[in-house]
Amino acid sequence: MSDSRFPAGFLWGGALAANQCEGAYREGGKGLATVDMLPHGPHRMPVKLGLEKRYTLRGDEFYPSHDAIDFYHRYREDIALMAEMGFTVFRTSIAWSRIYPKGDETAPNQAGIDFYRDLFLECRKYGIEPLVTLSHFDVPMHLVIEYGSWRDRRMVTFFTRYARTCFEAFNGLVKYWLTFNEINILLHSPFSGAGLVFEAGENPEQIKYQAAHHELVASALATKIAHEVNPGNQVGCMLAGGNFYPYTCKPEDVWAALEKDRENLFFIDVQARGAYPAYAARVFREKGVSIVMEEGDAAILRRHSVDFVSFSYYASRCAAADMDEHNTSAANVVKSLKNPHIAASEWGWGIDPLGLRITMNMMYDRYQKPLFLVENGLGARDEINENGEIIDDYRIGYLREHISALADAIEDGVPVMGYIMWGCIDLVSASTGEMSKRYGLVYVDRDDNGKGTLARSRKKSFYWYKKVIVSNGGDL
Ligand code: BG6
Repeated sequence: MSDSRFPAGFLWGGALAANQCEGAYREGGKGLATVDMLPHGPHRMPVKLGLEKRYTLRGDEFYPSHDAIDFYHRYREDIALMAEMGFTVFRTSIAWSRIYPKGDETAPNQAGIDFYRDLFLECRKYGIEPLVTLSHFDVPMHLVIEYGSWRDRRMVTFFTRYARTCFEAFNGLVKYWLTFNEINILLHSPFSGAGLVFEAGENPEQIKYQAAHHELVASALATKIAHEVNPGNQVGCMLAGGNFYPYTCKPEDVWAALEKDRENLFFIDVQARGAYPAYAARVFREKGVSIVMEEGDAAILRRHSVDFVSFSYYASRCAAADMDEHNTSAANVVKSLKNPHIAASEWGWGIDPLGLRITMNMMYDRYQKPLFLVENGLGARDEINENGEIIDDYRIGYLREHISALADAIEDGVPVMGYIMWGCIDLVSASTGEMSKRYGLVYVDRDDNGKGTLARSRKKSFYWYKKVIVSNGGDL
């Protein structure tokens, strides 16, 4: 075993998200949520982008999140598999609509609280620390229909009530919290990101940035409440990360890349530094955006910045002053020029481990707060061979190189709390709704049309990751 380049106590684990794994979409009193309205197939994108209003379910569509991988009923088996790999952290989310089925009630749904309490107790039984996201692409549909979701200021009250309920109910069980998953995705996929649907004649930029302001205030208030409930709580923001590279060294391309990075980092600038960045005023002017703020908002943002900065990293991105639309891809629904210097996954997501080191150095230079990589992985098709095994060397290769880049960043002086790979157990893809885009170390027998036994089996990467964890990253 070679020497570990990771500090003692470094957290190792994997992530799932309620909306992509639990299923049981109407059980235990759960209300309908945005993700429940996303079909698999050609209608998915217009709904995700907020361009098509889908407020009722249609009999002629397949909705993959309704049953997902049935984590709701199988979590004991799944957590046992995570424990077998030696996880010390497991990231998941709470479905808001299990705790407040409509979202604007004043009393929570006890069955929802009981479910998550059992889940977190199960983690603790094995010494696994839960890292919990309050909103992972998931807003109760009632709030979308009645209030227009995050465009309405009242969402701040509903969200902070929900957050307080969670902090109090799971006090002592959960210490690490994230407020919004990939908060910047609100700009790129407004319905799945924040429940936004646009009306004809509206300026979508105005709606998105007003909604962003509400989320930022809600996130700061949730951070305040988390600290009040238990000073030991640690709250993070969460960025869909990956630096933009200039496509060439033409100054206009360099400027375009800087502007694209700012578009995403805007959110983290506010959450980590406690104030709107200087560039925001000009950007808003150019987009015709005028944000309505309440007195006291600036103080809330300033006083309750996050404890740490978490992020996902799948791919780096490229920008040019002149974006050639025929040469783009969209990892995490963020449009990017294809980078001719790197390989790409079957879904066109660039594979760039050095980009992770670059991104982490930039983020620490900018924020000076501990970083936590809470999603990283490769979506790929898996084949079961004649011996019934899945030899996913491509996934092992991807993870190995990214973990190694993360170790390089640590040696660069970046403090990192842990490494959490995405989709430790195969689950429904957020962007496509497919099951065949698999990230897992554990295979789930289910196809894109919802057929299969849901049985779990260990891939080759399962045994590899176990060895990585036991050696604290020394044996890659
Ligand atoms: C992130 C999300 O964007 O990337 C996850 O937080 C998502 O929810 C993951 O599943 C991978 O994306 P996809 O579209 O391949 O599932």
